[in-house]
Amino acid sequence: MSTIQVVSTIAELHDRLGQARDSAALTGGDTRIVLVPTMGALHAGHLALVRRAHTLGGIVVVSIFVNPLQFGAGEDLDNYPRTLDADVAALGAENVSFVFAPNAREMFPGGESDTRVTAGLVGSLYEGAARPGHFDGMLTVVAKLLGIVTPDVAVFGQKDGQQAFLVRRMVDDLNVRSTIEVVETVREPGGLALSSRNRYLDHEQHTAAQTLFAGLTAAVEAAETGPAAALVAAHARIAAQPLVKLDYLVIVHPETLLTVHDDYRGPARLLVAARVGKTRLIDNVSLCLG
Ligand code: PAF
Repeated sequence: MSTIQVVSTIAELHDRLGQARDSAALTGGDTRIVLVPTMGALHAGHLALVRRAHTLGGIVVVSIFVNPLQFGAGEDLDNYPRTLDADVAALGAENVSFVFAPNAREMFPGGESDTRVTAGLVGSLYEGAARPGHFDGMLTVVAKLLGIVTPDVAVFGQKDGQQAFLVRRMVDDLNVRSTIEVVETVREPGGLALSSRNRYLDHEQHTAAQTLFAGLTAAVEAAETGPAAALVAAHARIAAQPLVKLDYLVIVHPETLLTVHDDYRGPARLLVAARVGKTRLIDNVSLCLG
């Protein structure tokens, strides 16, 4: 097992990745680079992305950067958990080659760039409606990370389903030469999707938050009878838990992420967001309608 290398500058990352590729080529190893972009505060969901990354290439890079562009005023940028030492230890145990952990000056040497990737209509819906500018900021930094690392593959989690959709579309629209791999959501035994923000929940809120997945499961079971019935089933389950304040619950077409009409039958995704106390949680599942 090789030791993990923590790199904080773009120039050093380029040098080290060049060396890693050369030495893999010399020894007949796998020269493909796989990037797992994260904001740190790693949990088992991130480690599932890392494990998938190892199946996709021989040089695994995990980026850790709490991206200021994707936080709005009044959001948790300053309080977002920063746990670099623990993250590096966890990634070392997963045999990751490189952690790229730049600071904001390295990523934005002239201050925040004027150039932005815009997420378009889908970027203004659901999470984008609740967090204006979030997806433009997320896509801009993902585009920068793809430009810096130039990975063969980049791995994202399905838990942030709208994010994964928008990243895939950006890569297609802008002819970025990286493939996007999306890994299924990792859940606690009670169904709650793993998230760095779960650590904000106290015990009672944590139990209440499990209702979200119970609502999604109720929708999956009712999906046979169509979108309206599935939404009613999920609403009823979630509304029974007063600590969960629903923000949106929508059924969307997987190829457009736009809401489906009630006569639609076929594959779909159910997206949900809710607040539990001050913590905003999101989740999604696939459905087969009709
Ligand atoms: O999902 C995240 O952690 C972030 O949105 C990402 C993709 C690392 C971009 O900052």
